[in-house]
Amino acid sequence: MRADSAGAYPLCVIAFEGARKRYIDDAGANHVALDGLDLTVASGETLALIGPSGSGKTTALRLVNRMLELDGGAVRIDGEDVRTLDPIALRRRVGYVVQRGGLLPHLTARENVGLLGEVEGHAPDVLAARVDELLSMVRLDPGQHGKRYPAQLSGGQRQRVGVARALYLEPQLVLLDEPFGALDPITRRELQEELGALLEPATALLVTHDLREAFRMADRTALLRAGELLEVGSQAELEASPDPWVQRFLEAQRG
Ligand SMILES: Nc1ncnc2c1ncn2[C@@H]1O[C@H](COP(=O)(O)OP(=O)(O)OP(=O)(O)O)[C@@H](O)[C@H]1O
Ligand SMILES: [Mg+2]
Repeated sequence: MRADSAGAYPLCVIAFEGARKRYIDDAGANHVALDGLDLTVASGETLALIGPSGSGKTTALRLVNRMLELDGGAVRIDGEDVRTLDPIALRRRVGYVVQRGGLLPHLTARENVGLLGEVEGHAPDVLAARVDELLSMVRLDPGQHGKRYPAQLSGGQRQRVGVARALYLEPQLVLLDEPFGALDPITRRELQEELGALLEPATALLVTHDLREAFRMADRTALLRAGELLEVGSQAELEASPDPWVQRFLEAQRG
């Protein structure tokens, strides 16, 4: 899903350069969540991040929009170190679909989706039309579901509101953390297609636990294990990997 090579969209390259993140637990012990990640996502590319639970996928995403700060190395957007960018401006530019929805509980679905429109001061009719469009895109009824609070929605519906919210400002860069984890296979398939088309011009990092989803939606897939990048490439390249752990991972996903 590459952007128009004629340059219709601004460049948007994400580069992890030896990116390191460690957490210190309550007992004071160090835990390395990301151990020197080197990975570049090309402009207009969708790159999937896959790997076992705890392998550092969410950590990698949150370093891009500075929800987390690095302990070493760098993350650059178009060559600029994210640490030099204003975090608020950065988060306006980068759409983020939070794992498990991350909605504000005291706002309705409509208000959650339109949050950035409010911040930007969009006219009420413009905002309402955009919210309707986005809710319909994620197969929710703007009238019915739009009025509900997150606690009144199912897990899959909340996830879809989270996807709609992240796309409000048509971001050039989108981080998606298991956007369809709670969805049934039919809705999931529909949204994969819909979202794939919407992401076409953007640069996207998509975290998923589903290898078929990765191969369907992404140009390349990166496989993480315990904070390390084991392999990155197309489906054919991953399938040809000589690494026995990569082969076991692919085999387990097929089973
Ligand atoms: N705030 C934190 N404090 C301490 N350790 C953390 C914290 N956040 C994450 N970790 C640890 O860092 C590692 C990577 O976590 P991360 O959330 O990036 O994993 P993940 O690949 O997204 O997993 P999942 O597929 O379960 O969402 C895990 O071992 C996790 O326990
Ligand atoms: Mg995660």
